[in-house]
Amino acid sequence: MVEYQTHAYDVLVIGAGGSGLSAAIKASADGARVGVITKSLLGKAHTVMAEGGVAAALANVDDRDNWRVHFSDTMRGGQYLNNWRMAELHAKEAPDRVRELEAWGAVFDRTPEGRILQRNFGGHRYPRLAHVGDRTGLEIIRTLQDHGIHQGMEVHMETTVLTLLLDGGRVAGAFGYDRERGRFLLFPAKAVVLSTGGIGRAFRVTSNSWEYTGDGHSLAYHAGAALLDMEFVQFHPTGMIWPPSVQGILVTEGIRGDGGVLRNREGRRFMFDDIPENYRSQTADDPEEGWRYTQGDKNARRPPELLTRDHVARCIVREIKAGRGSPHGGVFLDIAWIKEKVPNAEEYIKRKLPTMYQQFKQLADIDITKEPMEIGPTTHYVMGGVKVDAETQMSTVPGLFAAGECAAGLHGANRLGGNSLSDLLVFGRRAGLYAACFAKEHGDVRSDSGQVERAAREALMPFDRQQSGAENPYQIQHELQSMMQDEVGIVRNDQEMRKALEGIGKLRERAAKVGVYGNREFNNGWHTALDLQNLLTVSEAVARAALERKESRGAHFREDFPEKDPEAAKFNIVIRQGSDGEMQLERVPITEMPAELKQVIEEMK
Ligand code: FUM
Repeated sequence: MVEYQTHAYDVLVIGAGGSGLSAAIKASADGARVGVITKSLLGKAHTVMAEGGVAAALANVDDRDNWRVHFSDTMRGGQYLNNWRMAELHAKEAPDRVRELEAWGAVFDRTPEGRILQRNFGGHRYPRLAHVGDRTGLEIIRTLQDHGIHQGMEVHMETTVLTLLLDGGRVAGAFGYDRERGRFLLFPAKAVVLSTGGIGRAFRVTSNSWEYTGDGHSLAYHAGAALLDMEFVQFHPTGMIWPPSVQGILVTEGIRGDGGVLRNREGRRFMFDDIPENYRSQTADDPEEGWRYTQGDKNARRPPELLTRDHVARCIVREIKAGRGSPHGGVFLDIAWIKEKVPNAEEYIKRKLPTMYQQFKQLADIDITKEPMEIGPTTHYVMGGVKVDAETQMSTVPGLFAAGECAAGLHGANRLGGNSLSDLLVFGRRAGLYAACFAKEHGDVRSDSGQVERAAREALMPFDRQQSGAENPYQIQHELQSMMQDEVGIVRNDQEMRKALEGIGKLRERAAKVGVYGNREFNNGWHTALDLQNLLTVSEAVARAALERKESRGAHFREDFPEKDPEAAKFNIVIRQGSDGEMQLERVPITEMPAELKQVIEEMK
């Protein structure tokens, strides 16, 4: 008999980034007994990597902004594969969520009149990102954490979930272990919210830290839930590339929002070379106009560095491949040049971008007030995730909700920067609200002891394979990350993705033979072995969906199908586990947008 401790809740929230904390706060406020599980320490979440700001049409800096412009920017950025109802709710509710954060103690930067300051970001028509220098995500987490703790939620830190429990067709809680001692834990719950973030660790170069192994995506899939749009993985254009030990660390888009420019080895601003047709009328023709835009000139158009991330990342890759890259295989991002324009530029940069200043000084010995940075694309975010209902965030499994990066729909084929923070506030709260309702309306759950026994036995198997010849979990993880980076990365084609799928199959067989040494206390090898199932599941989902989408759209670029296919604009790709255990893909038609939203988009054009 397996031994475990039991903690029962009305609502169990798995993941304690911005969406998890928002869900927990709302569910607690609505009277639910809430437990929050976090894989690492409270406050350590990928939310902090959204540095530049939270997108909300507050219209504090430009009074032409409103929810309609935000809605249409989000839809255009997502190339119209977005769930339009989620995009509408998001644009309408984001301003209230930002004001709520402020009421809970978040300290935003200010306009001279004392209103929340907003900055420019890629794909947003007006300055829209409420921010705290370049540490907005950190301030949001700090605020939610403080507020949440006072709501009475119970937090289980350094706890990993192995499986979701089911009672009939309904979710019934989760089973996992604490990393410190390796003890098993049972969490019976009437409703569960997944808020585990992304899948960045499936790739070699990423802004995501070790926790982001696609746990929520994989748990939901194995519990029978549908996944949506998994082909869309966002490569943020600017990550650190040098020295090698810091490769992938995020370099905020806020630098470009505040006037930073991209140059190749020849010193040329290559972003002017290729401006997509649908953004041409809004993009500056010359550097001077672009600069005026970043300084708030309402008659100027945005510089091409503020085009959407998918496009900027591809332009960078083009320069590198053409041999016009920087010495360490990236391109240059230059904010120091603004000393030609701004008195006291050094002080201005340090005030607006304090984290970036410190990050480059300490990690790369670069003073960004004096010299350009070397940067390159980094895997940052997955638009795909658990398919949810737009209003409630419930997945296709009753009682199982998802919010934030591990849910899908809002961002379509590409997310605009800053929309992740507003996403997690708007839909985290909605998930908490409806999870608490579900818990109230539905009776108690029963835990299936057979399922628990099975999960515990499987989790301990790597200890039974300590003999020589057992596979090494780190080696498998490393091979998977390299394969995904090289074969299912920024530029894709049929041949390489088929090779990757074959490779994933072989790695899966090897993963079934991993062995680990030592005992269950803080055993990182064991934890890596247990994470492999999630990494393999999400990698396969990304590769299969990317093979199925035979066009280039948003973050998904295929060199064998470089154009958009108008027919492919009509469906999303849904993935489920078939009764044979294999992944089943389905093209699901996008429901037609109501006339009034179509009109909003037309007006904005
Ligand atoms: O560049 C950034 O600060 C990232 C923001 C985001 O991903 O939303």
